[in-house]
Amino acid sequence: MRIVFLGAPGVGKGTQAERMAAAFRHTKISTGDLLREAVRNRTPLGLEAKAYMDQGQLVPDAVVIGMVKEKLEQSTTGRDFILDGFPRTVPQAEELGKLLASKSLSLDRVVNFAVPTTDLVRRMSGRRSCAKCQAVYHVEFSPPQTADVCDRCGGGLTQRSDDKAETIEARLRVYDQQTAPLIQYYRERKLLVDLDGAGAMEAVQLRLEQALGLPVRT
Ligand code: AP5
Repeated sequence: MRIVFLGAPGVGKGTQAERMAAAFRHTKISTGDLLREAVRNRTPLGLEAKAYMDQGQLVPDAVVIGMVKEKLEQSTTGRDFILDGFPRTVPQAEELGKLLASKSLSLDRVVNFAVPTTDLVRRMSGRRSCAKCQAVYHVEFSPPQTADVCDRCGGGLTQRSDDKAETIEARLRVYDQQTAPLIQYYRERKLLVDLDGAGAMEAVQLRLEQALGLPVRT
């Protein structure tokens, strides 16, 4: 399947993309993860992107589109993927459509995750990530066994620089202005599936799999 995960910052797109990729061996392409990797590696793209990300703004379309094109070309499965956090503007959606059409492909579904704003803020402010392997935790909803230590690799956990209160506010505003119009864009193209993202991660995953008509896992 070729799926896009759409939704406000902190809604749970990355968590569910990770779970679905593991359960169904889908390729997951997360533009946020790719950009953070470029920032860590201090590549020219990372240095350019960092200034936007730290302010909660979107990285320019041309940069992100180029990055996704490259990733889709490299992708080993090529035809099946979950796009997490891309597209995020109408021009990005149009470019994605053209790119897929050039390969005689199209999207199967766009999942629109939604939770109340108070939950978004709570999820973002409690998020912690491993500085070494990037595993994601939450201080309240999925804490590590030992505080601030990654269960997977023993690395230290840190807070994302864009998860500070003032940046969270900016990101939510940017989402409303620049990304929310994609809901209508994909609804008109009959690709949109609305998903209630509230509740425990396992419950959301089950709801998601049912909404996508995926086989029940035992
Ligand atoms: P990106 O990393 O994509 O950030 P985002 O869209 O703001 O999404 P988040 O990663 O904050 O949240 P999520 O929905 O993945 O939630 P998660 O599963 O982690 O982008 C970062 C920046 O990069 C952007 O601001 C922009 O600058 C740039 N960028 C990226 N893509 C771009 C693009 N296409 N164009 C231009 N710029 C781009 O969950 C959050 C927390 O909640 C976690 O701690 C998790 O453990 C917890 N949690 C998850 N699900 C649940 C649940 N059901 N119950 C309780 N807790 C939960």
